[in-house]
Amino acid sequence: MNILVIGSGGREHAIAWKIDKSRIEHNIFCLPGNPGTATFATNIPGKVTDFNLVKDTVVSKGIDMVVVGPEVPLVEGITDFLAEAVPGVKVIGPSKQGAMLEGSKDFAKDFMTRHGIPTARYATFTGGEYAAACAFLDGMQPPYVLKADGLAAGKGVLIVEDLQEAKSLLKDVFDGKFGAAGDKVVIEQFLDGIEMSAFVLTDGKDYLLLPEAKDYKRIGDGDTGLNTGGMGSVSPVCFADEAFMEKVRTRVIEPTIAGIAADKLDYKGFIFFGLMNCGGDPYVIEYNVRMGDPETESVMTRISSDLLEHLIACADGTLSEEDLEISDKAAVTVIMASGGYPEAYQSHYPIGLMGDPGALIFHCGTASEGGKVVTAGGRVLAVTAVASDIQQAREDVYDAIGNIYFDDCYYRNDIASDLLSLAGVEED
Ligand code: AMP
Ligand code: GLY
Repeated sequence: MNILVIGSGGREHAIAWKIDKSRIEHNIFCLPGNPGTATFATNIPGKVTDFNLVKDTVVSKGIDMVVVGPEVPLVEGITDFLAEAVPGVKVIGPSKQGAMLEGSKDFAKDFMTRHGIPTARYATFTGGEYAAACAFLDGMQPPYVLKADGLAAGKGVLIVEDLQEAKSLLKDVFDGKFGAAGDKVVIEQFLDGIEMSAFVLTDGKDYLLLPEAKDYKRIGDGDTGLNTGGMGSVSPVCFADEAFMEKVRTRVIEPTIAGIAADKLDYKGFIFFGLMNCGGDPYVIEYNVRMGDPETESVMTRISSDLLEHLIACADGTLSEEDLEISDKAAVTVIMASGGYPEAYQSHYPIGLMGDPGALIFHCGTASEGGKVVTAGGRVLAVTAVASDIQQAREDVYDAIGNIYFDDCYYRNDIASDLLSLAGVEED
C-alpha cells in the first residue's frame, strides 16, 4: 500500500513513523516531509496547499491513501478536491464543511450549542456590531475571552482581566489584528480548570479513542510568557481517570459524532477535543480537525495496535470492527526550540548528536544543508521518551536532550512535572 502523508512537522513525522510500524506492506511518501521522515520515507518537495501537486503525486506514485496532517489544507478543501480529482483514493481528513469545526469558531460554537455539547457561554459579533459586543462584555465577568473566528495560527485567542483593555483589543481585532480571521469575534465565558486534550479517529459513525495528552503552550517554565504552538506534551494524564473519561465519551465525543452525522458533515479523520476539566466536568474549549503537535508525538508512541489498519478502516467506514490498543507506558515529549521563539530567532545551526540519545527524535523544523541537518524553524525537534511511568519518561527525555546539541537551543525544564505534583510524586 502506498501512503502519502501531507505536512512537514513533528506531528507528521510521528504519524508516518507509526504507520511505518504496520504489518501491512507499505511505502510511505511525505509531502514535503523533513530530514527525519527522509530516513524511512520518500520526501516530495512542495507546499501542503498545492492541491495540484498532491493530485499529481497521487497519480504518479500510485498512492492509495492520503493522510492530511495540518488544518490549513483541510480548511481549504483538499479532501473534496481529491475526491473529485482522483476518485477512489482514501483520504484521512474531513471535507471542507467538516473542517469548519476548526476553521470557524462561530460554526463550532453553534454546532456545540445545537447538539447540547458542554462549552462556555458565548456570543458572536461582526465589526459592524462593536457597540453590541461592548454591551455583551459589560455583562460578563473577568477575565474576558475574545476569539478571532477564523484560523490565526494558534494566536487568535485573547484573555484579558481588564474590561477597557478587552474593548480596545476587540477593536484591534475588528480592525485587522488577525487579518480576515477577525472579521467575526466570539466572546465567551472564561472556564476555570485544568486543560487536556482528547483525540479520536472517526469514520463519521464510529470512533476509536486515542490516548489522551496534556500540552504545554506557554514558552516559559511554570506556564509563563508568550503562547507557542506547544512546548511539550505528556500522556497519560492522571486526572483523566475512568470516571472523567466516561463523561468525555458520553457528553462530548458521542454527541459530537452524532452531530456530525445529523448535520451530514462528511468526516473521516481525527478530531482533537481541547477540553477544560472544571471541577470534574468536561467542557469543550475548541475542536481541531487534525491531531495536535506536540501531543501526537506522545500519543503515537502509546498506541500498540496497527495504526495503518485503523486508518484503512476509517476510510472504508468500518471503524466499528476495530479495537485500538494502548500501552500502559507513559510518554513525555519535550520540544527543543530556537532561542527567541515564538518571536524572532536564528536558523541554519547544525544539529549534533552525541551517541545514542536513548529517546525518539521527531523533526519539527529542520532542513538538510550540505549533507548536514540544521535548524530551520522555531520548534526544531520533539524528543519523546517512553517508560514505565511519567517520572522515568521525564528523566529519560531530559537525559536524551543532554546528548543533542545546537546553538541557541531553548527548552522548558518542567514538562510533565505538574502531573507528578498532582499525583503526589516528589522529584529529586
Ligand atoms: P484555542 O486557540 O481555542 O486553543 O485557545 C487557546 C488557549 O486559550 C486554550 O488552549 C486555553 O488555554 C485558552 N482558552 C480558550 N478559551 C478559553 C476559555 N473559554 N476559558 C479559559 N481559557 C480559554
Ligand atoms: N498543540 C496544540 C495544537 O496542535 O493545536
